[in-house]
Amino acid sequence: MDRGSNMSRARQFEAAEDVPASPSADATIGDLITERLSRRNLSAGLLAVAAIAAAAPLRVLLGSPSVQAQEQRTTPSFDFEEVAAGVDDTHHVAEGYDADVLIRWGDRVLADAPAFDPYRQTPAAQARQFGYNNDFLGFIPHDGSSEHGLLVVNHEYTNEELMFPGAGRQDTTRFAMMTGALAGIEMMAHGGSVIEVRKSGGTWSVVTRSRYNRRITAETDMRISGPAAGHALMRTKADPTGAWVRGMLNNCSGGITPWGTWLTCEENFNGYFWGKADGLPGETALKRYGVPGNWMNWGQYHDRFNLAKEPQEPNRFGWIVEIDPFDPASVPVKRTALGRFKHEGAGNVVNKDGRFVVYSGDDQRFDYVYKFVTAGLVDRTDRAGNRDLLDHGTLHAARFDADGSGEWLPLVHGEGKLTAAAGFSDQGHVLIHARLAADALGATRMDRPEDIDVDPRTGKVYVMLTNNAARTPVQVDAANPRADNRFGHIIEIMPDGGDHAATKFRWEILLRCGDPLEAAVGATFNPATTKSGWFGMPDNALVDADGRLWIATDGNSQRATGRADGVWALETEGAARGTSKHFYRCPIGAELCGPAMTPDMTTLFVAVQHPGEGQGPKGPSTFEAPSTRWPDFLPDMPPRPSIVAITRRGGGRIG
Ligand code: FEO
Ligand code: CA
Ligand code: CA
Repeated sequence: MDRGSNMSRARQFEAAEDVPASPSADATIGDLITERLSRRNLSAGLLAVAAIAAAAPLRVLLGSPSVQAQEQRTTPSFDFEEVAAGVDDTHHVAEGYDADVLIRWGDRVLADAPAFDPYRQTPAAQARQFGYNNDFLGFIPHDGSSEHGLLVVNHEYTNEELMFPGAGRQDTTRFAMMTGALAGIEMMAHGGSVIEVRKSGGTWSVVTRSRYNRRITAETDMRISGPAAGHALMRTKADPTGAWVRGMLNNCSGGITPWGTWLTCEENFNGYFWGKADGLPGETALKRYGVPGNWMNWGQYHDRFNLAKEPQEPNRFGWIVEIDPFDPASVPVKRTALGRFKHEGAGNVVNKDGRFVVYSGDDQRFDYVYKFVTAGLVDRTDRAGNRDLLDHGTLHAARFDADGSGEWLPLVHGEGKLTAAAGFSDQGHVLIHARLAADALGATRMDRPEDIDVDPRTGKVYVMLTNNAARTPVQVDAANPRADNRFGHIIEIMPDGGDHAATKFRWEILLRCGDPLEAAVGATFNPATTKSGWFGMPDNALVDADGRLWIATDGNSQRATGRADGVWALETEGAARGTSKHFYRCPIGAELCGPAMTPDMTTLFVAVQHPGEGQGPKGPSTFEAPSTRWPDFLPDMPPRPSIVAITRRGGGRIG
């Protein structure tokens, strides 16, 4: 592989950024603090100890973590050699593992797709090729197999400056280089992909002639179901029924149901709408959702994204979409019973009474944590019996109280403050304006809720809160305890009686993220964590088949951590709780999304999103001068968001 000048540029960049050298595998945060103290580096060391002592669980401080870890650990520990934290132009995985690119932006999804040529892109080609910015990944095994199944992938957004020649020019205004044709390519690069994948001879590949392979785009027709279907607020000139919509937008994380459907979540849909909210009917609600964002200029070419022409179109986005990946002709369904907000994901569990529960964060500073509980029971014998399960049930928003208890507040029309007198005409209205309903109920304003994942064995629910630098000291509360929270935290929820349908719960903070050696940050990693082991900005997460927690991050390399995003393994139980280890590291500019494992835990699929985004060593990273050309490293090929399959060399379980 000729990586030519990119490698030297990356090295220059690394030197310029003063990235710490690879730490010794054995040097833990505890060791580093001791070392600092022994050098009488008191100003930094004592403060760091004070910060950790104030925040770490008491049991960790009582004795040697390594001794206690062996005695008290209740989950299997992670036994891999950590990858060194840092940043360069390629990806890195723990020693003894292989990280192989499975599919890249532009690769064939449908067998008749043309070969990818970044200089000759068309909407028609992109509609048959793998889309941009892969986010959520779900592996759905064929008959329980860990070597054959369907991979469902979200394509969240596009980076025109990295996708199109000339579009990153700095001497013009943002959209000066855009055209209707380029917007059409972007629309086709959104949505999702279904690909059949198979492992053979130890290597994963895409089954290119699969009957399941499918692209879903911002133009795919979808049905709207549930209480808001047909609602007056859902009707547009193009769809007077309010029951059909073209496309899904900004699909971020998601979930897989036990009946094998894909829940894909519309997150920052506001960015696609063009114009001004001022003076429009519904102005207050539009602004509460940040509409219009004017992040994309599609509204210049398509009326439905032009707020002046279709002021209600935004109401038809911001939903969880259910897709049957086993039927390529199936119509995706927007399930309005789960509410409308900037859905990050759809972590889920079958409750002990058989009802289905979906947890979902609203990813914005000061927005809420939600859960949806179905009215009906999961049908485990007949897949078709679950077809409309998600159309009936109760959405709740979370209130976290200072005493460690909490309550799920139901978003039910006619109850509490959700009445016609308060401006909510019916249940459809409550769901379309779920944010305003949760405001009225007094839900707790959180530090950007991202993925929420359930450990079905313990019933514990892990909530990733990625960061919120806008929180001021007077806005601090027990569940969001840091002002200027630049590195995020993780909350653990314990439902009352292990019942995910219960309205009461207990909660505690599992981890405050960030560099534990920076006293002012107040991070609470277990002192057994190494210098490479800490992370900030938790975003996506995975609970593996043994109940172990894996964290994927977003935002490290763009902010002051001097390290790329990636995957970290986090101990959640016993004396090792709060110990984190670095497993996989992204190339520069990328965030890490969608970690998903095969049932036997021998493959970890990860989604490397927006490699090369942001600032490079010579200024803004663009198609012509990207900060990396990962994964191809060919002179004329831009960086390409890709799915990577990670396996243990010689076989065996991940981690
Ligand atoms: Fe698309 Fe909340 O990350
Ligand atoms: Ca995310
Ligand atoms: Ca993200």
